[in-house]
Amino acid sequence: MTSHSAPRTRGAKLTTRRAKETDAWAIKDLIDRYVASGTLLPRTLDFIKDYAHEFIVAVDRDKVIGSVHLDEYAPSLAELRSLAVDPEYQGRGVGRLLVQATEKLATARGYHTLFAVSNDEEFFKRFGFEKRHIPELDLERSEVSRFKGVHAKDLHPSSP
Ligand SMILES: CC(C)(COP(=O)(O)OP(=O)(O)OC[C@H]1O[C@@H](n2cnc3c(N)ncnc32)[C@H](O)[C@@H]1OP(=O)(O)O)[C@@H](O)C(=O)NCCC(=O)NCCS
Repeated sequence: MTSHSAPRTRGAKLTTRRAKETDAWAIKDLIDRYVASGTLLPRTLDFIKDYAHEFIVAVDRDKVIGSVHLDEYAPSLAELRSLAVDPEYQGRGVGRLLVQATEKLATARGYHTLFAVSNDEEFFKRFGFEKRHIPELDLERSEVSRFKGVHAKDLHPSSP
């Protein structure tokens, strides 16, 4: 996958790349920061290792400073999950890079719709996601996600 770059900020060189199994600890640390507040669901180290090929990380050179999981929900439907940016790097376009990289990977993998479950409607709106009812989710939504909004975006093979 082509990596995406953000402008240099205070000497940082921020890019995204596909995660490797060796990134699992760093990804878990990032996710864990947002579990207590109920923002993200916890992920075990084993889960992240096993599904590392579905994660994308944002890096400042070698340091992992953001991550996201592209999770297949159905053959044409994928979920953007576990989006987390290190607080020290927030507000510098890292979240944007991760959402864009997720959309690109989802498009390349042939999904027609990408969705996210979040209370942060304003954030996802910026990227063209709209609040939408997805019937496939009705049966399986967890206690945590049931009260959050579902934001979806249709993907097109030609989108960046
Ligand atoms: C939400 C989060 C991923 C944003 O990451 P970030 O790197 O700070 O975001 P960016 O700097 O790329 O911001 C991109 C745009 O979204 C806006 N934005 C950032 N956080 C926002 C928020 N919480 N609500 C609304 N807009 C937001 C920015 O102002 C920016 O807008 P602009 O392009 O007009 O300048 C980050 O705050 C985070 O990790 N939060 C905790 C976990 C979480 O909430 N995950 C999302 C739920 S799955």
